[in-house]
Amino acid sequence: MPRRLLLVCALLASVFTFAQQPPAPAAAKPAPRITYIRAGRLFDGTSDSTRENVVIVVQDERIQSIGPAASTKFPAGATVIDLSHATVLPGLIDCHTHLGARADRYDEISRFKDSPFQSAFAAVVNARKTLEAGFTSVRDVGSHPFLAVDLRNSIKEGLVPGPRIVASGPAISITGGHGDLNNYSPQTRVIMFPEERDFAIADGVDQIRHVVRAQVKYGVDVIKIIATGGVLSKGDSPGAPQFTPEELKAAADEAHMAGRKIAAHAHGTQGIKNAILAGIDSIEHASLIDEEGIRLAKEHGTYLVMDIYNDDYILGMAPQFGLPQENIDKEKMVGRLQRENFQKAFQAGAKMAFGTDAGVYPHGDNAKQFFYMVKFGMTPAQAIHAATTNAADLIGRSKDVGSIEPGKYADIIAVSADPLQDVRVLENVGFVMKGGVVYKNLIAGK
Ligand code: ARG
Repeated sequence: MPRRLLLVCALLASVFTFAQQPPAPAAAKPAPRITYIRAGRLFDGTSDSTRENVVIVVQDERIQSIGPAASTKFPAGATVIDLSHATVLPGLIDCHTHLGARADRYDEISRFKDSPFQSAFAAVVNARKTLEAGFTSVRDVGSHPFLAVDLRNSIKEGLVPGPRIVASGPAISITGGHGDLNNYSPQTRVIMFPEERDFAIADGVDQIRHVVRAQVKYGVDVIKIIATGGVLSKGDSPGAPQFTPEELKAAADEAHMAGRKIAAHAHGTQGIKNAILAGIDSIEHASLIDEEGIRLAKEHGTYLVMDIYNDDYILGMAPQFGLPQENIDKEKMVGRLQRENFQKAFQAGAKMAFGTDAGVYPHGDNAKQFFYMVKFGMTPAQAIHAATTNAADLIGRSKDVGSIEPGKYADIIAVSADPLQDVRVLENVGFVMKGGVVYKNLIAGK
């Protein structure tokens, strides 16, 4: 046989033998981990009411079934978590956090002294506090590039405890806008981070497309853009639009083309409308929204994420941490109006999702906002929906989170009294499970 033919035969033979090999025995699947949770009262997120004495069966990281306690048989040796004296709810969702931000850093100097690594260390601690406060998912909307993406991945890997994170990159801003560092001498070169032209500051449609694409390239889940001035920035006015309608539309189109949602920071009346008309998915703050803005939000199905707790902290505590008078004055302009407009927008039927701007105030205090949501027009059940079902819808995760139903992640919290009677009990969450794993338990008998 010619040598070449021999070689071919040998090769074929080896392929054949390989194909004949019996398949390697599959690694034995570990037995599913089953946990039974007895709930004295359950608000499952699918309605405004609660049910009494039910059992939630959790298999590994998901909810398997829910049924009346009376008819549930617990197999011998089963893991049972006894929350029969508590109210059980879906894990809460905050659609507006900055896990890398600290609420004791309002002075001029620390923004130049703190490195991105310091933010990241703070973020690890803040992620844990957030989870332990009962927030099992957050949408993080602005941090150093790409702190939130890396934190999301580290939490997913199990390296550090924290909520599920829908991560943005740095907020995209015009030159001199709310996301820029302003009011320094032109002789001083002040930049936020070396690649800010790549990742955050954009002027004109082409630069916007570039920045959105670059953020997507580095793994963001969501785009955050600044459509008006802000309160805590220097040299800009919350009422003034930032970016033109064309620029906002380019950002929204580019985000959507990449399958990402886009959130716009907007306090000002006109900027809110520009953002809604551009096709942006949620308006953050929405402080000075008017009737036309509310109508447009309803028409376009745009969510409003109104952070109506943090006025207390900005005016109460932040000055002690060095907040300049300029920013105190701006907060006084928008704080009260934002709460009144929250009530108007909600009563008019605009879609609302819970978001607090955590990082402006200390992480872990997220639930303090429920009190204001109820004070300004929601029932406790509606406020909880804003932080569960509605929030899950806005972050695009309704299949997995936001309610206690079979098939969803076992993201489950409990409080010792009925939040439908007093929503403030959510400020003391005693039990937290995320993906079937218990992270906090101050309530359950075991
Ligand atoms: N990050 C926001 C800004 O600087 C905070 C606004 C807080 N004030 C309020 N009333 N929601 O614009």
